[in-house]
Amino acid sequence: MPFALKVIFYRILMVLLKFVTVFIPAPKPTIYSGAGSAKKMCSTIMHFGSDKLLIVTDAMLVKIGVVSEITDELERLGVQYIVFDEILPDPSYDLVEKGVQVAIEHQANGILAIGGGSPMDAAKIIAARVTNNKSIESLTGILKVKQPCLPLFVVPTTAGTGSETTIAAVVSNPSTNQKTPVIDPKLVPIAAALDPALMLGLPPAITAATGMDALTHAVESYLSKHAAPDTDHYALAAVKMIMKNLPICYADGKNEQARESMALASFYAGAAFTKANLGYVHAIAHQFGAFYHTPHGLANAIVLPHILEYSLPAAQRRLAELALVVELGVAGEPHAVLAQRFVDAVKQLNQDIGIPTTLETLKANDVSTIAKGALKEAHYLYPVPRYMDKLQCERIIRAMLPA
Ligand SMILES: [Fe+2]
Repeated sequence: MPFALKVIFYRILMVLLKFVTVFIPAPKPTIYSGAGSAKKMCSTIMHFGSDKLLIVTDAMLVKIGVVSEITDELERLGVQYIVFDEILPDPSYDLVEKGVQVAIEHQANGILAIGGGSPMDAAKIIAARVTNNKSIESLTGILKVKQPCLPLFVVPTTAGTGSETTIAAVVSNPSTNQKTPVIDPKLVPIAAALDPALMLGLPPAITAATGMDALTHAVESYLSKHAAPDTDHYALAAVKMIMKNLPICYADGKNEQARESMALASFYAGAAFTKANLGYVHAIAHQFGAFYHTPHGLANAIVLPHILEYSLPAAQRRLAELALVVELGVAGEPHAVLAQRFVDAVKQLNQDIGIPTTLETLKANDVSTIAKGALKEAHYLYPVPRYMDKLQCERIIRAMLPA
């Protein structure tokens, strides 16, 4: 089929998808924000009938004392808990199922996630799997969660993923090495605590990568053909806050005010993309994750400038609006000039926060397969502003090969 005809097919598909998603509610968690907000949220958990919690986290957060800050408060409040701290990046079916068994043995009646995207996503799926008598694999896909989940509370310790507000969670299928999503509004937590005091120790490299994940969510949702006035508000606020505060957090991780702004921006970006969706940056980054276990935020950061350059001809006005919101020019200047300034500012931001321009692990022999996988994901899910064929996608990926 000629490429032009394929594009018409994808556009029609995205119109149908938009029609379907209008009917999917996107509930929002109650937000507790500011230093000490995690403890404040803890004091509300028992009101939801949750007095035996499964805490889903990772071993590092236990080691550096972040988890004990919260469990001390739970003990003071008389809430029982058991800590499942085995979450690794890109959690697999087996790992998540292990958490389910711990929840069942402990008779947990609530779940508290403490961590970045992986613990939060794992906790969401555990919360769904405990109350739904189905395998994790059969929960993957859209609207497969039939029963309400266990009450879920989250404390993000990175500012990037937005998982605290999205209707999705990803789990890795070990047989295909691909991440598969569970998408259902029942996955949205009851409450989230955006507590900057718990983010002060985040190393600069993780601060940079996770922050660029949040920026990518905001930018891709703003450029999406499914963008709407409400998602635009969230996306513009997030872009403005991230472009200002991410370099500050990278240079001075202890800056609590900048950390709080990043935590809020990540939440806003999550609220934008859960409705407006994503684009080619995520499609390619997911393949880098599957092939090389590249951290998600780092992969997005490397890919983002390339896709913005490619999208320029079809997204000049929207990119110009992003330039104006971060004060890279004034209204009335040509869209082309403003748009290019925004793309250049993203490149400069990457440079300022130590993001490489190439992916060290990328292999030339993998480019064709990566492009095929990325296009399959993008063309059936993402309402991108400008479509690309496989040769164009391969050209973009090759530009990220190490020298
Ligand atoms: Fe992401």
